[in-house]
Amino acid sequence: MKKSIVAALILAFTMSVVPAKADEGMWIPALISQRIGDMQAKGFKLSAEDIYSINQASLKDAVILFGSGCTGEVVSGEGLLFTNHHCGYSMIQSHSSVEHDYLRDGFWAMNRSQELPCRGLTVSFLERMEDVTSAVLKGVSDDMTESERNEVVNKNMNAIKKEVTSPGNGLKARVEPLYYGNQYFLFLYRDYRDIRFVGAPPSSIGKFGGDTDNWMWPRHTGDFSIFRIYADKDNNPADYSEDNVPYQPKKFFKISRAGVKEGDFTFIYGFPGSTQEYIVSEAARYIGEVSDPHGIALRTKRLDVMNKYMSESQAVRIQYSAKYARVSNAWKKWQGEALGIKRMKAVENKLAYEKKFGEWSRGTEFEGSADRIIALYKDFEKYDFARMYYNETAATIELPAFAARTLSLLSEPERVKGNARYFFKDYYLPIDKESFVLVMKSFDENMPEEFKPAFHKENMAAYGSVEAWAEDIFTNSIFADPERAASLTEADRDAILADPAYRFQKGYSEWMASDIQPEWLRYRSDINLAYRTFMRGRMAMGQDGDFYPDANLTLRVAYGHVKGYSPRDGVYYEPYSTLKGIMEKDNPEIFDYNIPQVLRDLYAAGDIPDTPVCFCATNHTTGGNSGSPVINADGNLVGINFDRVWEGTMSDIVFDPDYCRNIALDIRYLLFIVEKIGGATWLLDEMSFVDQAE
Ligand code: ARG
Ligand code: ASP
Repeated sequence: MKKSIVAALILAFTMSVVPAKADEGMWIPALISQRIGDMQAKGFKLSAEDIYSINQASLKDAVILFGSGCTGEVVSGEGLLFTNHHCGYSMIQSHSSVEHDYLRDGFWAMNRSQELPCRGLTVSFLERMEDVTSAVLKGVSDDMTESERNEVVNKNMNAIKKEVTSPGNGLKARVEPLYYGNQYFLFLYRDYRDIRFVGAPPSSIGKFGGDTDNWMWPRHTGDFSIFRIYADKDNNPADYSEDNVPYQPKKFFKISRAGVKEGDFTFIYGFPGSTQEYIVSEAARYIGEVSDPHGIALRTKRLDVMNKYMSESQAVRIQYSAKYARVSNAWKKWQGEALGIKRMKAVENKLAYEKKFGEWSRGTEFEGSADRIIALYKDFEKYDFARMYYNETAATIELPAFAARTLSLLSEPERVKGNARYFFKDYYLPIDKESFVLVMKSFDENMPEEFKPAFHKENMAAYGSVEAWAEDIFTNSIFADPERAASLTEADRDAILADPAYRFQKGYSEWMASDIQPEWLRYRSDINLAYRTFMRGRMAMGQDGDFYPDANLTLRVAYGHVKGYSPRDGVYYEPYSTLKGIMEKDNPEIFDYNIPQVLRDLYAAGDIPDTPVCFCATNHTTGGNSGSPVINADGNLVGINFDRVWEGTMSDIVFDPDYCRNIALDIRYLLFIVEKIGGATWLLDEMSFVDQAE
């Protein structure tokens, strides 16, 4: 990197000369001193050192990465933690059985010995983070190709990681690029792996509203679950053992029961997963006009099929509820995203910016960088479309994937059997078959002729129709017979290789691996290189407001304030919801709105319609921020983040202060449920409250 550019970069990274755009941004905690003035101006009363410090306990020591994609917060001196119900969902499910259905009925440990160990679950504390850009880029020169550069960068990264970790110290190091590799940070984590399940409300509270209300406001979901971290006698990470003791955190959140009101400052501390705020106009156009609409159309078909069979049978509803939730989550998000891109004129605005950038950058090393990305993107899109289309069609068919998995386990009959049991427990063939027909017809219609794999063309010719192909797979495959599929052994290898379900899987996945994925990766890498220059140029031009790196599942600060919004003309949404709204939605006939009887009884018996449930605010969040602490001006816990409003989901690409709202559970609703529904008051006793309930 040239000296002048390094200087420009340092300037861009360290100065906040331009006022921040309203509430947009996911900021790096170690650099929060650059934002603290703005935070304080907006109401925050603590210091940068209170948020992040390597010298003393700070709020960051009470925030954890929960599992591999959620956030959580420590709320007692004895390792108690909160996250979302949907983040703890698979753990709750894995402890559930017909006799103990904790998903349906909820679960409340009444003392430590009743807490349930969660195998495979870890939580990570961030020890510290550090700018290691110069060490990572040592030996990198401008004339290197991207792959030569990667080689040097990877070597340097490994050396850095090795230096800070030793087998005994329990630390895990990661080095992550920011701003497309213009800057690198080292993140040091300490992972705890004896985590126990302490409590969760029934799904009719924790998932109230289900997929109907998902991504929507007004919201009434009690989306929380409670766990506890255990450590060895020296407070260090350890495998599960009866001898382990509750972890003693450096810091835990104190809880405020004072509540929030419109305009109040809110701060979300968590692990946002992925955003792409600096993409070029063409990339935004492709997402808004091509990939989102196609993804939505394909998922609509699959959801319709699932819906039909789920509404006909209780057993099928149970089998497919988690699958349905997974498919519908992105489906709904994409709808808001595509609309938001259009409403905000994101493509036009980016084009105008690129024009300005083109003029400004003439004669500099940044000249042409945006155009280069756009040109590359036009070719990249074809491969990305094929890849997306495969992922949303052929790759979604369940039986072929099961066939391939079985083949990989063939030498271990016990695992073949176990895998078959696991698969058929939640499998309903008519759904798979009907989805197959719909999505493979779309594949045939929408995949450009020159991209269609030979395998597809041959089979379409041989079978004559998608229906006939489906008939063969779902009637004749040995995998369609649960008993046969569970008893397959090495002796059946040839039969499997000739099986129509297996052949389907193999045909498309080989095409993906040989024809699409390598080109896709090659374009991605060239595009990344061009983005690195473009990004540096944007910073040097400096007309963008303040810069924050795209989310990459590293710890970030987002701050904003409690605020309602107007989703469309003539409508204004208040920023809070209450128990009264739950009763308004309550309907025993509708699965998503059927609350437990005890809540009805409580409501009838007491004067509690104003009990707060959720609130929305302007914090810039994304997937991964689920479970994040929502912190008030005094640094105390007032809520748990769990969603955004669908009208604002383009915030991963472009933030609109008028529409982008995060949704949080009001901490007082959690306390109400723990006490009144769970009767687990022993948990309240170990929490710290900073103020009296009103
Ligand atoms: N939309 C939220 C997020 O992206 C919550 C998803 C879980 N809830 C559901 N009803 N599917 O994770
Ligand atoms: N619901 C998301 C999560 O699970 C949060 C979001 O996308 O706003 O992380």
